[in-house]
Amino acid sequence: MEAVIAAPDELARLAAGAIEKLLGSRPDAVIGLATGSSPLRVYDELVRLHLEAGLSFARASAFTLDEYVGLPPEHPARYLNVITQEIAQRVDFAPGAVRSPDGLAADIPAACAAYEDAVAQAGGVDLQILGIGTDGHVGFNEPGSSLASRTRIKTLTEQTRTDNARFFGGDITAVPHHCLTQGLATIMAARHIVLIARGRAKAEAVHQLVEGPVSAMWPATILQHHPHVTVLIDNPAASRLQLGDYFRSTYAAKPTWQGL
Ligand code: F6R
Repeated sequence: MEAVIAAPDELARLAAGAIEKLLGSRPDAVIGLATGSSPLRVYDELVRLHLEAGLSFARASAFTLDEYVGLPPEHPARYLNVITQEIAQRVDFAPGAVRSPDGLAADIPAACAAYEDAVAQAGGVDLQILGIGTDGHVGFNEPGSSLASRTRIKTLTEQTRTDNARFFGGDITAVPHHCLTQGLATIMAARHIVLIARGRAKAEAVHQLVEGPVSAMWPATILQHHPHVTVLIDNPAASRLQLGDYFRSTYAAKPTWQGL
């Protein structure tokens, strides 16, 4: 696990640069996209690279991590709509190339199995963008999630519903109780994972992710078992790290050839 502590703009450039490099070597790459506020600067930077440097997603495909259950198709907080607005329609993904779990499916277990199949048939995720919840969730794998979980329905914690009420006009009662989410084992199957953590509210979750024991109580800690994880952290989110100075000096001395 590589931890990089830097300013938000630099973190966005690093994550977008990793995707640019991937698409340079593999134009039909499979990208895992996260919703929420953490990756927004990354998506802005990808749009800039698309418009100014010709970065193309025309042969690529993408999968979101999760979706609320029961939001109507036109709801602005529905994750497929969010990801369409934040990145998919701003670059040149082919129609239908960005997929999300079906939160309106009549048969939820079948929809989850179909999503797993779709990811597998696409060849698996090459690079997964992740955020992290204040309670240590990745995707919507809340504390207590099986470390071996696959795509399934989960119940959101009150903490997560409170955190996400800002996407529902501040009204927690409007935030669904259920979601479909890639499981921790699904996320762990991605070949490279780039997690972005920003803000003081994420400091404890980042400390646990990077320095804590692996535990279902902090689901993101499973990433310690992945061979290629990059954790991009701004200074407030890094404020609880015991190894912060080490990570800063490591990044300052990082060989330029190395990349993420
Ligand atoms: C979003 C997702 C969540 C968020 C997390 C952080 O698809 O899976 O794990 O990444 O809740 O959200 P933000 O970035 O809004 O703080």
